[in-house]
Amino acid sequence: MAVDVLLGLQWGDEGKGKIVDFLTSSYDIVCRFQGGPNAGHTLYQDGKKIVLHTIPSGIFHEKIVNVIGNGVVVNPVTLMQEIDELESRGVDVKSRLLICDRAHFILPTHRWLDAASERAKGSTKIGSTLRGIGPTYMDKTGRNGVRIGDMLFDNFQEKVNYLIEKHKTLLTIYDELPEFDLAQEMNAWNDAVARLRQYQIINAIYYLHDALKTGKRILAEGAQGSMLDIDFGTYPYVTSSNTVSAGVCNGLGIPPTVVNRVYGITKAYCTRVGSGPFPTELHDEIGEKIMKCGGEFGATTGRPRRCGWIDLVQLRYSCFINGVTDLIITKADVLNGFDMIKAATSYNVKGTKSTELPMYLDQEMIEPQYDNFEGWSQTSVDSIEENLEIYVSAISDYLTIPVKMISIGPGRDEVINFSN
Ligand code: GDP
Ligand code: IMO
Ligand code: MG
Repeated sequence: MAVDVLLGLQWGDEGKGKIVDFLTSSYDIVCRFQGGPNAGHTLYQDGKKIVLHTIPSGIFHEKIVNVIGNGVVVNPVTLMQEIDELESRGVDVKSRLLICDRAHFILPTHRWLDAASERAKGSTKIGSTLRGIGPTYMDKTGRNGVRIGDMLFDNFQEKVNYLIEKHKTLLTIYDELPEFDLAQEMNAWNDAVARLRQYQIINAIYYLHDALKTGKRILAEGAQGSMLDIDFGTYPYVTSSNTVSAGVCNGLGIPPTVVNRVYGITKAYCTRVGSGPFPTELHDEIGEKIMKCGGEFGATTGRPRRCGWIDLVQLRYSCFINGVTDLIITKADVLNGFDMIKAATSYNVKGTKSTELPMYLDQEMIEPQYDNFEGWSQTSVDSIEENLEIYVSAISDYLTIPVKMISIGPGRDEVINFSN
């Protein structure tokens, strides 16, 4: 059993990139299995920040192979921008990155459709990152998609043209279209596709199968968070892929029997970017303080993230769907100096106490019920302060899952690691 999974348990941005980068030395291969450039995973390399959108977070490590799996959707333009940035820092991307031929292309018109759909929704918009993710997965399941491996066949241009024409027809249903220079976008896209041909496009399903047979250790890196899962999240305010651990099998072509550890990441509080319900959201100065102290602005879109207390009802749900074996709590330092910290342990739904997530989190009045905790000021990675320990133990007891590490800063080594 050689595949471990690391994923977000909330609404994304839990610090997955940082933790993958920290854990990577224990693995041979790091894979993305779903999502696309809607993700923004922040890492620090030699003190310099980098945000990865499509490339797995193991890319800085010389001996690690990084795989973009079949379940991922790829925009060649943003992928090339990411590659350019990495190569300018001396990272040999060509030798370290493998792209599965089955992964789907995001076309410029997917982004245009995304923007048109969001504009038409008005106040009910999803708050999409506008990276074309939803329309691309729609074409995938609608069996119209163009895959990375298609560019190696003679009828590639024909397939692309057919899909673009279809999208143009679909766009006519909207009264008003967002501005979009299709000719310019297509030029950039075609140039990026031409460059992509120089990278390693492979049948990653066999590659990973062979890697497993020869005892290689694989880490699957989730994007987004469990509450943004297309099936289990706060639908329709979700993304268009399976972000939970089950998505690893679909998104890489590996059987469930080889999955071993499932590392579930949560912040010490909770954030959400984009629209949709968020029961423990704080609309007051405490929420604002968390946003400021945590630097809570989207790594992909720069939008301010909505902030609130940790929600254990929500986390319990995420943990059992994913089969989390180890918890990782990030950004504990952001709450340094807070007098009181709260954790929701149940919901009051129309006067009745509940510890279950209903189908809609916003159709009825949900009032989270909180336990209070005294604040801490954690700065050392060598020992844990008593109040933080009490808080972390309460989370671990509620979820009945051990805590493997606590992150107390954005840097690679700012981690209290209990597995040592
Ligand atoms: P991801 O999408 O899950 O990889 O997370 P993001 O990169 O979008 O957002 C997490 C942000 O928190 C980034 O700016 C990280 O540098 C930062 N970060 C990660 N862990 C910690 C931590 O323990 N403390 C603090 N203060 N920042 C952290
Ligand atoms: P990482 O991997 C936080 C949110 C968007 C929007 C919804 C749908 O960095 O944690 P989409 O563009 O997928 O159609 O948007 O999902 N969203 C994220 N929120 N972190 C992410 O990724 C996200 N990816 C998408 O804000 O509400
Ligand atoms: Mg992010």
